[in-house]
Amino acid sequence: MSTTDAEVDGTDRTDDPDFQRARARHEDLSVEITEHRRRYYAEDAPTISDSQFDELMHELVDIETAYPELKNEDSPTQQVGTFSTAFTPVQHLEKMLSLQDVFSLDEVQAWADRITAEVPGEPYLCEVKIDGLAVDLVYEQGRLTKAATRGDGVTGEDVTANVATIAAVPQRLAAADGHDVPELLEVRGEVYFPSADFLRLNESQVAAGKAPFANPRNAAAGSLRQKDAAKTAERPLSFIAHGLGALRGFEPDSQSHAYAALAAWGLPTSPYWRVVGTVEEAYDYIAEFGEQRHRLVHEIDGVVIKIDRLDVQRRLGATSRTPRWAVAYKFPPEEVNTRLLDIKVSIGRTGRATPYAVLEPVRVAGSEVEFATLHNADQVKAKGVRIGDTVVVRKAGDVIPEVVAPVEAARTGDETEFVMPERCPECGSVLAPAAEGDVDLRCPNARSCPGQLRERLAYLSGRSCFDVDRMGYIACAALVEPLGADPVLVDEGGVFDLKMDDLLPIQVVVRDPDTGLPKQDPKTGEDKVVAYFANKNGEPKKTAVQMLENLEAAKRQPLWRVVNALSIRHVGPVAAQALAEHFGDLDRIANADEAEMAAVDGVGPTIAAAIKDWFAVDWHRAIVERWREAGVRMQDDAPDPSEALPQTLEGLTIVITGGIPDYTREGAAAAVKARGGKVSGSVSKKTSAVVAGEKPGSKYDKAVQLGVPVVAGADFAALLEDGLSAPQTPDAETEPE
Ligand code: IVH
Repeated sequence: MSTTDAEVDGTDRTDDPDFQRARARHEDLSVEITEHRRRYYAEDAPTISDSQFDELMHELVDIETAYPELKNEDSPTQQVGTFSTAFTPVQHLEKMLSLQDVFSLDEVQAWADRITAEVPGEPYLCEVKIDGLAVDLVYEQGRLTKAATRGDGVTGEDVTANVATIAAVPQRLAAADGHDVPELLEVRGEVYFPSADFLRLNESQVAAGKAPFANPRNAAAGSLRQKDAAKTAERPLSFIAHGLGALRGFEPDSQSHAYAALAAWGLPTSPYWRVVGTVEEAYDYIAEFGEQRHRLVHEIDGVVIKIDRLDVQRRLGATSRTPRWAVAYKFPPEEVNTRLLDIKVSIGRTGRATPYAVLEPVRVAGSEVEFATLHNADQVKAKGVRIGDTVVVRKAGDVIPEVVAPVEAARTGDETEFVMPERCPECGSVLAPAAEGDVDLRCPNARSCPGQLRERLAYLSGRSCFDVDRMGYIACAALVEPLGADPVLVDEGGVFDLKMDDLLPIQVVVRDPDTGLPKQDPKTGEDKVVAYFANKNGEPKKTAVQMLENLEAAKRQPLWRVVNALSIRHVGPVAAQALAEHFGDLDRIANADEAEMAAVDGVGPTIAAAIKDWFAVDWHRAIVERWREAGVRMQDDAPDPSEALPQTLEGLTIVITGGIPDYTREGAAAAVKARGGKVSGSVSKKTSAVVAGEKPGSKYDKAVQLGVPVVAGADFAALLEDGLSAPQTPDAETEPE
């Protein structure tokens, strides 16, 4: 496929091992990339993610940069994709180019530097990079006569009938004031699948027993490239224009002016483009849309920066594949493909059995992903994933990783269906739904199932409960399933009674931090086991001492944390705080009338019923009693009347204007309220006093007009102490400047 180095530059590099290696890798990559392009363009069934494809291309470009002689016309770097033979070929009037991708701001800067060296000070047009499918539309005398996919950039596929079903694409351009309809307009843009519709489409695909689409772009391509255009019509495709080809009777001077004309003729243009003067402003645009990327109507995978002026675009020109006047900044990947090694089941703190994916570790959106929840057995079925599948894994923003869909095209036939186990993998109890019709299965052994108890302990010691430093997940697992000793806890009731003697005999298996697999003792070949809380001499480790100290200190945590730590179904920190604030006492919560609880803001009937159910269980109430005996705080302290502030402002309405020394606006208002006063935002005859701090506004003038007493900001402390009888600083000093 590639010409030899000697043929290219006359040098013989057959002895250079680096070059030989680079050439071999170049050939492999070329074959691999060509195959992936075929799957992507011709079959709409890629087996690797976009970012993985980009990585292969990047490697190829790097090799060609180091060894330019390897670049030949067959190289994937010199081609713009391929097309399927299922549709009639159409020659584009002007070549459809692709974009040079970059993955860092440094690379954007390097691109801008190259441009500026040639054409300084040119404005940039920033746009979002829509994750869809490029099409070329030809309008003759204002009528849509041809629509084609990009294909290889020169020849595409005729999809006129399909595009005609997209409501956003006008069949006729509308004449508009100041914009005559041109004789010929070749306009390029993106056909996309709106994000919200995409979720619905995948649900209906699954309901119909079909595989879900891996992303909106595949859905757009699959929907548009239907032999039967009536099928395309059933899909809510849309379109946004982002470029021009051949033109007659239309001579815009910039891309942004062209967009204004296109919009006037009825062609959809993006609401998000922006012309900026500097590359720094382009960075701001990238940051802004990086943050908003999932809030737009369509998915985006980056930002495109173009030189706005069309004459400058022409002057800068293009390589065979990409224009020099534009660059595509790609966001870090949020979606990658990896192998689904296994599906396991975890038991949560309320007993729910949740299948989760064990993945071949892969980097997604900046972090390594090894596990992803699959929610329940119905979801596994709905997604159609099988053990051994290549799957699409997504991690959007801060969202936890999820398995989106299998890559069916990558199946070998060795994949196996997942079967939900009948028994709890932790304690062997038969799993069952909590109520008829529940999709979730639960382990009924709530009190002592080691899985449930471990999870409850880890939750109880966590940030939103008792916040016990040094009592992490492994410590909790060791307390529940200690090797070499009897478990020290049958439930969480005994957690505040733990003694060092309970801890010292506990052993754990040593695991490899990377794989999570047990490490073996080289001598015996058996799993390596160590004491968790004791050192080699059998004395307490510092962490064990600290854990017990922290448990002691945790007994003084406020009531809402205690309520949250009980792991009552549906009760999280928000409901726990609402309950603690309303009742102030755990016994009052336990004995509360269900209707009263349900009426508390942030609680409601489901939570109220769950609380009643929880306290109806003997061993649950026994937990509370053991905690109480151990000294855990069971009520929030009522404010101590001896600490109440004198109510010097009782019955008074105070308006605060301008800055008060040593107080924020909120702090000053809180101080007035703490003294029994009311704070108002506007001055009226009923106002008792206006506190005028630095730079007071019109409220000061109004107070003077109405004869309302004015207190200087400097006298605010005295006002709080003594009320309106406080001596005032002489008037002159309270006057605003
Ligand atoms: S400009 C010569 N602008 O990205 C200019 N393309 O990776 C080429 N795309 O083929 C296109 N949003 O399908 C341009 N705002 C945008 C775009 C955009 C999405 C697609 C387009 C192009 C591909 C290149």
